[in-house]
Amino acid sequence: MKVGIIGAGTMGSGIAQAFAQTEGYEVFLCDINEAFAANGKKKIAKGLERRAAKGKMTQESADAVLSKIQTGVISICQDCDLVVEAAIEDMAVKKQTFQELKDICKKEALFVSNTSSLSITELGAGLDRPVAGMHFFNPAPVMKLVEVIAGLNTPPEMITEIKKIAADIGKVPVQVEEAAGFVVNRILIPMINEGIGIYAEGVADPEGIDSAMKLGANHPMGPLELGDLIGLDVVHAIMEVLSSETGDPKYRPHPLLKKMVRGGKLGQKTGSGFYQYKG
Ligand code: CAA
Repeated sequence: MKVGIIGAGTMGSGIAQAFAQTEGYEVFLCDINEAFAANGKKKIAKGLERRAAKGKMTQESADAVLSKIQTGVISICQDCDLVVEAAIEDMAVKKQTFQELKDICKKEALFVSNTSSLSITELGAGLDRPVAGMHFFNPAPVMKLVEVIAGLNTPPEMITEIKKIAADIGKVPVQVEEAAGFVVNRILIPMINEGIGIYAEGVADPEGIDSAMKLGANHPMGPLELGDLIGLDVVHAIMEVLSSETGDPKYRPHPLLKKMVRGGKLGQKTGSGFYQYKG
């Protein structure tokens, strides 16, 4: 199966790797220009090299995974059977991407979005085919869950097909109905926002907050290091969607979160968030 991935950022490149490491999948990783797409592939190569160095895979199989990933701009998706949109979390950008894909791809190509909170029904509005949500979790090559989301106009057969594909690449699909944040982000992102509030109030420092949640709730990462991993811009965007979709003040993004996003302190991807990162 030929799979197009739109967006070669953290999620897009992780999703590309998840497909490429499964037999039978060829990946077309795209971004707004060739250099961004190539950069996404470089990130995948680095991760695979690390695994090969640790003896978790042979260099040969790492090379085989990479050889199944082509990079370029959206037009390389023309023969794809499935296209996973993983562009920035902005409704207008995502809708425009699907409009372009509609003119490039064959009629039977399946369109899914990796949106972390936006309406699947709205994403599919005005298209010539239905859209479904296929929501991966960071780091996408490792995390088992894929939320499969039906919009109002997504046929059940498409959901069945997407669940089958998710299982085929080693993931566990959980079907959810359209709702802001779906299941995981509705719970996880407000928890990170709360962690930021606890830090802003001076209740504990970042290391203290993260240790408390790791040791006291058995979470693999604390809320602030997890926010840095996901990207604080993404955390902010999801809080905004939860807030605007529900109108519930409990989803207000914390002012410190807003400030950090405005200051470009987005976490691992910019080298600085609640922690500092090298390289
Ligand atoms: N990309 C690819 N692989 C990665 C990776 C990355 N960024 N980070 C870690 N891995 C791999 C490692 O190579 C390793 O694989 P092998 O065992 O095959 O070598 C495996 O993951 C475990 O890694 P480590 O041993 O280095 O570290 P760990 O045991 O501490 O696990 C973790 C790392 C998987 C990230 C773990 O800390 C974890 O599960 N954290 C929570 C992550 C989480 O909650 N993600 C969801 C975020 S929400 C989201 O993504 C949705 C959204 O819409 C915003």
